[in-house]
Amino acid sequence: MKLGIIGTGMIVNEFLKMTAELPEIQLSAILSTERSVPKAEKLQEEYKIGATFSKTEDFLTSEIDTVYVAVPNHLHYGFAKQALLAGKHVICEKPFTLKYGELAELKEIAEEKQLILIEAVTNQYLPNYQKIKEALPEIGQVRLIECNYSQYSSRYDAFRKGEVLPAFNPKFGGGALMDINIYNIHFVLGLFGLPKGVEYYGNIQKGVDTSGILMLDYGSFKAACIGAKDSFTESHATIQGEDGTIIVKSPSSTIIETVLQHKGSEQKISEKSTHHRMYDEFKKFDTVIREKNLAFAAEQLDHSLAVMKVVEEASTKAGLELG
Ligand SMILES: NC(=O)c1ccc[n+]([C@@H]2O[C@H](COP(=O)([O-])OP(=O)(O)OC[C@H]3O[C@@H](n4cnc5c(N)ncnc54)[C@H](OP(=O)(O)O)[C@@H]3O)[C@@H](O)[C@H]2O)c1
Repeated sequence: MKLGIIGTGMIVNEFLKMTAELPEIQLSAILSTERSVPKAEKLQEEYKIGATFSKTEDFLTSEIDTVYVAVPNHLHYGFAKQALLAGKHVICEKPFTLKYGELAELKEIAEEKQLILIEAVTNQYLPNYQKIKEALPEIGQVRLIECNYSQYSSRYDAFRKGEVLPAFNPKFGGGALMDINIYNIHFVLGLFGLPKGVEYYGNIQKGVDTSGILMLDYGSFKAACIGAKDSFTESHATIQGEDGTIIVKSPSSTIIETVLQHKGSEQKISEKSTHHRMYDEFKKFDTVIREKNLAFAAEQLDHSLAVMKVVEEASTKAGLELG
C-alpha cells in the first residue's frame, strides 16, 4: 500500500520503527500540523517518507492510496471521513470514533465507495489471541472473565496538579474507558460478541474517568474489565470456565504469555513473538488492502461497531460527555 500517515506523535513514532519489518508498506506521505512541520521533516528523513504536508487537501490529493489516522481520538472521525470521501482506504487508530453513529456513518461511506475502513487495534491480530480462541472449548462453560489493564499515566501527574491534557479530557475522547479499557473491550467482544447488559463504574474526577470497572453481562457468564490511568498493577486477563482457566499474564493489548490451567496442570499456549506488537495488524491490513478484501473489512467493522455500542452505553450510563 502507498501509505499516508496523519500525525507525528507517540504512536506514529512507534509505528515507523516497526515498518522496518514490513518493507511492503510504502511510506508515501505524512501530514502534520503547522507547528510540527520540523518533526514531520525529521521523520521523513529518518524513515525515507515520500513527502510531508501540513495541508490536508494537498495530502489527500497526493499519491497515497491508504490513510493511517493516528491523531487524538476526537479527530479520528473527521479525518477518516475526509479520507474516505477522497477515495482512500482508511486504517484508524483506536478508539475508532467517539460515538457509535459516527462509525456507522463512516461504514456507509466506505461501503458506498467500496473502500477498506478498519480499526488499528493490536490484540485482534495477534497470533496469541487466535490461540486463546482455539483453547476456549477446553475450559468448558465460561463463567467469569476479568481483564485488568492498569498503567499509571505520565499525564496523570499533570492532572493531579490541575492541568488537564487531552488524554484526560472527555471532549477529546480522553479517559480510562476510551484509552486503556478499550483493549479489554476488544479482547472480550472479539471472543464472545455483544453482551446482553453493560454497566460502567468510573472513578470520575473533573468529569473524566481516571479509572473504572466495566461490567459485561452475557447471561450465563459475566466479564469485569478494569482500566486505570491513575494507578497501576500487573495487567492481566483471566477467562474462567467450569473445566479450566485461561490466564494472560500481560495486558490484553499485547497478549505475550498465556497459559491454560486445568485442575493440577498448567500448559503454555502462547508462542514467543520476535515482532513488534503492531506488526501483525499492519501485515494483515497490507494484505487486505492489496487484495481489496471488503468482506474481511466488513467483518472487522461489525466487531468495531459492537465495541462502540458498548462504549457508548457505558459512557452514557456513567454520565461521561465524550466529544
Ligand atoms: N495502537 C496503540 O498501541 C496506541 C498506543 C497509543 C496511542 N494510540 C492511539 O493513537 C492516537 C494518537 O495517540 P498518540 O499517543 O500518538 O498521541 P500524541 O503523542 O499526542 O500525538 C498526536 C499527534 O497528532 C497530531 N495532530 C493533532 N492534530 C492534528 C491535525 N489537525 N493534523 C495533523 N496532525 C495532528 C499532533 O500534532 P501536534 O503535536 O502538532 O499537536 C501529534 O503529532 C490516539 O488515538 C491513541 O488512542 C494507539
